Amino acid sequence: MTFSPGSLITIERHILEQQRRYPEATGALTGLLYDIALAAKIIARETTRAGLVNILGAAGSANVHGERQQKLDVFADEVIFRMNDHTGRVCVLASEEHDDLRPIPEHHPRGGRYALIYDPLDGSSNIDVNVSIGTIFAIHRKVSVGERGSLEDVLQPGHKLVAAAYVVYGSSTMLVYSTGQGVHGFTLDPGVGEFLLSHPDIRIPAAPTYYSVNQGYEATWTAGVRQYVAWLQGLDGTREPLGGRYIGSLVSDFHRNLLRGGVYLYPGTPEKPAGKLRLTYEAQPLAFIAAQAGGYASDGLGDVLDLQPTSLHQRVPFFVGNRDLVERAEAYLRTHDTEYLARYAQERQGAAG
Ligand code: F6P
Repeated sequence: MTFSPGSLITIERHILEQQRRYPEATGALTGLLYDIALAAKIIARETTRAGLVNILGAAGSANVHGERQQKLDVFADEVIFRMNDHTGRVCVLASEEHDDLRPIPEHHPRGGRYALIYDPLDGSSNIDVNVSIGTIFAIHRKVSVGERGSLEDVLQPGHKLVAAAYVVYGSSTMLVYSTGQGVHGFTLDPGVGEFLLSHPDIRIPAAPTYYSVNQGYEATWTAGVRQYVAWLQGLDGTREPLGGRYIGSLVSDFHRNLLRGGVYLYPGTPEKPAGKLRLTYEAQPLAFIAAQAGGYASDGLGDVLDLQPTSLHQRVPFFVGNRDLVERAEAYLRTHDTEYLARYAQERQGAAG
C-alpha cells in the first residue's frame, strides 16, 4: 500500500487497506484491530487525566505476580475485555492481570476466530509519577476444536501471531501495529479523536543509539551480561559507547529503541534464570514487531518467536533490538555463561516437558 506524503490516513483506513490484500478476509481481524484502537483511545483519555481525577493509587489488590495493582490497570483491563467480549470475533481472552483465561460470557456470541492476549497497562509503577506507560496486544488464530477457545489458542509460538500491537501513552499517544506486513505507527490527535498515520513502515535504524537495562541489578548479572553491557558502553575500546536509557516501562523503552536503534535487555540471573518479563504478554508481541521492523529478539539461546509457551504467565529472559546487537548478546552468553545457559535451558525444557 502506498500513500502519498502528506495525506491524512486514519488507522481505520490503513487497516482496511491492508485487509483488501486478502480477498478471503472476513473483516473479523479488521474489526478486532478497530476495537483495540478504540480501547486505546479510552485508556489514553483516562491516563492523561489520571493526575486530575482521583484515580491514582493502589486498587488494594495484587495481581498474580504479586505486584501492586493500580486503579488504572483495573480500568484498562476492563475496557479491553468489555470491548471484545461480545463481538463474536474473539473466542477467548488472556490478560496479564488475571491468573486464568478470560472466557467469553455465556450470553455473548462464541466461536470467534481469534484469541486476544493483552497486558492492559505495562510499566504501571510509573503511573503516579507521570512517566510513559503502555498497553500490549497479541492476536493468535484459533486452533482448538470446539466453540470455546482454550489455552491451546493462547499458548502458540510467536511466529504464529496474526498481529501484534502496542500503545504508548507518552508526550502523545501512539499505537504501533503489525499484521505481518511491516510495522506502522499512528499518533492520536486528541482534538479529533483519531489515530493518524505518523510513522509508516518503521524500520529499526541500522546504526544504534541506545542500550536499555536496569543497571541497578548489575550485582545479580551473569559474567556474560556484565561483559556484554561493558561492550555496549565501549569499555573494551572496540566500539563507540551507546547512550544508556531506561524508563522502566517496557513499551516505552522498546518504542524509543525501535525508532532510534539499540537494544533492550532484561536478562535472567542465576537465581531467576528466566528473568522477569512474560513470554506471551510482553516478549512475543514485541519480538514479532521487532522482527517485522528488521530487528531480532532472543532469550539468550535463540529466537523468542520460536519458543513454545507452556503456561500463561511464563517468564523469559529478553534481549531485543538491532539484530547484530542481540546476536552479540547471545555470543557473550555462549562464551561466558555456559553454566547459566544450561540451567535456563533445563528450566525451559522442564516447562515444556
Ligand atoms: O513487566 C513489567 C515491567 O514494568 C516492564 O514494563 C518494565 O520494563 C519492567 O517491568 C521494569 O522492571 P524493573 O523495575 O525490574 O527494571
